[in-house]
Amino acid sequence: MESTARTRARETGGNLPVDVTSFVGRRREITLTKRLLAESRVVTLTGPGGIGKSRLALRVATSMRRVFRDKSWRVELGELTDAALLADTISEQLSLGNTTSGNDVHTLIEYLRHREMLLVLDNCEHLVEACALLVDALVQACPGVRVLATSRQSLGVAGESTMVVPPLQVPDPEHLPPAEAYEQYASVRLFVERAKAVLPEFEPSADNGAVLMRLCHHLDGNPLAIELAVVRLRSLTLHQLEERLTERYELLTEGRRGAPARQQSLRALIDWSWDLCSEQDRRAWAYVSVFSGSFDLDAAEHVIDDSVGHAGAVGIVHSLVDKSVLMYEQEDGEGRYRLPHALREYGQEKLDAAGERESIECRHRDWYGALVERFATEWIGPDQVAWVNRLRKEQANLRAALHSALADADPHQATVALRMATRLGQYWGIRSLHGEARHWLDQALVVAAASPLERAAALRANGWFTLLQGDIITATPLLNEATSLTEREDDEIEHAYVTHTRGMAALFQGHLATADDLIETALASFRHHAAPHGELFALFGLGLVRGLDGRSEAGLALLGECLDTTTRLGEVFWRSYALWAVSHIEFSRDALGHAETAAKDALRLQRRMDNRLATTFSVDTLAWIAHRQERNKRAAELFGAAASMWEVTRTAPAFYAPFATDHGRHESRTRAALGEEEYRKHFDRGYQLTTGAAIDYALEVKQHTRAAPRENVHPMPLTRREREIADLVAQGRTNKEIAEKLVIAQRTVEGHVQHILTKLDFTSRAQIAGWIAGRKPPDSSH
Ligand SMILES: Nc1ncnc2c1ncn2[C@@H]1O[C@H](COP(=O)(O)OP(=O)(O)O)[C@@H](O)[C@H]1O
Ligand SMILES: [Mg+2]
Repeated sequence: MESTARTRARETGGNLPVDVTSFVGRRREITLTKRLLAESRVVTLTGPGGIGKSRLALRVATSMRRVFRDKSWRVELGELTDAALLADTISEQLSLGNTTSGNDVHTLIEYLRHREMLLVLDNCEHLVEACALLVDALVQACPGVRVLATSRQSLGVAGESTMVVPPLQVPDPEHLPPAEAYEQYASVRLFVERAKAVLPEFEPSADNGAVLMRLCHHLDGNPLAIELAVVRLRSLTLHQLEERLTERYELLTEGRRGAPARQQSLRALIDWSWDLCSEQDRRAWAYVSVFSGSFDLDAAEHVIDDSVGHAGAVGIVHSLVDKSVLMYEQEDGEGRYRLPHALREYGQEKLDAAGERESIECRHRDWYGALVERFATEWIGPDQVAWVNRLRKEQANLRAALHSALADADPHQATVALRMATRLGQYWGIRSLHGEARHWLDQALVVAAASPLERAAALRANGWFTLLQGDIITATPLLNEATSLTEREDDEIEHAYVTHTRGMAALFQGHLATADDLIETALASFRHHAAPHGELFALFGLGLVRGLDGRSEAGLALLGECLDTTTRLGEVFWRSYALWAVSHIEFSRDALGHAETAAKDALRLQRRMDNRLATTFSVDTLAWIAHRQERNKRAAELFGAAASMWEVTRTAPAFYAPFATDHGRHESRTRAALGEEEYRKHFDRGYQLTTGAAIDYALEVKQHTRAAPRENVHPMPLTRREREIADLVAQGRTNKEIAEKLVIAQRTVEGHVQHILTKLDFTSRAQIAGWIAGRKPPDSSH
């Protein structure tokens, strides 16, 4: 059953998303795709929008995940606008972090070279050329990787096999079988499944069987068209639906004489949904098409219109969800909306036709610009983990905002991009998106007509990311220009930031005396101006420098101050770095127990916000500690785990000279203690671990075995009412909507939902949806 399979997919790695609706048919296509994948390294599923390419690819990937040692991974490319970020986006969705400036195929290849996995590249159509180049390079260098792509057209890569995804089977209207035979057609099964979700009492029968089958024929067996048509059953009978559909087709063919009748069903359905929308709904549909990925209600409200007010915007969004134009999803208890791809394109066409694209993109940008400003102001505080998660959800929108700002003819917009990119520095650092940071900053610095101070801040941020990538030669002129700008403008705070960054550059090169001078100067200025972020950064930097310089007590005192302040402020980012620095100093004076405790404490915090570079430092340091504790096998394994992390963050101990010395010394001692062969064996074991498993190992947490997934068998654990509510939850209805539909109080619905969660041992509505989908009658593909 589906939900059981999904639970297993999660446990065994890979990143395949959860199905929220049932899957129908496709047995033949699944077999065929698998066969193609056995023969060719690249298989592309092609076909028109809505035909089911993505769904099929996901199904194949799920059923094949065990064939590959490193499982199946899906990378969603539909939201990516910048071909330059292709490799980075893939790296990121494979949870590798990334890379150097721009499109870094190299890291991706290094990571995949020794892996065996199925890589699904979903929705490649708008980036066909870039995808082709990348896939070509991948399959040549990575013998264990197979690629399953979905795209409206084939990629045109050597050795590629293409499969045109056919429509779901439809009955022949000239020779309709008896009504009860409908189940043999996947399109009709899909229609019935979705109809039951809209009208629980819907049942195919001898009376409606014929019209049902004719309808599926009219809908060309296009699953998206079927799903859109079914929504109309809320207010139309099947017969009425058929009539209206025929009218619609006539309308469409009038408009475009000569166009083939096939594949117009989807367009007709979308047109129809559009026509049924009120003027306000339509405007909102077109406006929300500027979002990339999912978005929340507040953002929608801002983009839709300032004049309709909150209640107005909420009403419009709900009305679009009701018409199945917008999808509603829940993530971490928060509701978000998403416009399906075909409807998004349609909305954008309307937006272009109305000449409103620029102004609405501008509103979108305003919203995310303001979000990023708030992030920067609130960063040093108790909400860091929440902020990182929030920005992660908005990543596609942040990229869209930066992209549209830089594409705008108005140079003022490039300045907006410059400011956003600078403010996002902290986030990119945590996500190890150093390359992406440079990508945006480089572009914005060329075109933006920013004030000297904004320019200085951007140069400084860009210099910092360049340093983290070990490129001191490129970083130096950036920092020099920033220095002269801040001197000329006489801005002490920005000047302190630049000075501090230059101090860190000196530290990375091992010039401890220079580093000490620069950071000390910066620290005094941060203190004088009460700039907490700078102060914490400088306390960490100076503490580390002094510790490395043999002044342990002085170093620990500064780090202690840093820790006190972070405790007071409730912040964990600098706290984790300070703890790591403490561990470094304790280690250098042989206090191994203290060193180990501090490094593990640091690692726990770093894991909470998925701070990848910091994690790498901590794991590496724990390896040295293990060596000195004479646990050399553990040390070798940790060195292996760290090696893989250094690779994927595209950094290296060598970029940080004082660190590199210790790293090298302890690694070679561990190697000598174990002997080459034994060392290799344990190193390789660590190298193969996923990041999560590596952290567990480093923390010496027992790998907890999860309870066996709940068997998906009768008896139904829910009461009838609960089952009814669970079905509605699975359709993405909110408690309020369910209350309205069932004519009961919202509070009662909340109580039921709580009961359902408790009974099923779930924590989210998405899990309920997955469970419901899994209980649907098995389809023919099983
Ligand atoms: N075999 C199927 N069973 C159930 N639903 C399907 C199936 N194929 C497609 N769908 C649904 O139809 C819609 C369009 O499918 P999708 O895979 O996104 O199409 P494409 O990628 O070709 O544009 C989605 O809502 C999807 O869930
Ligand atoms: Mg698709």
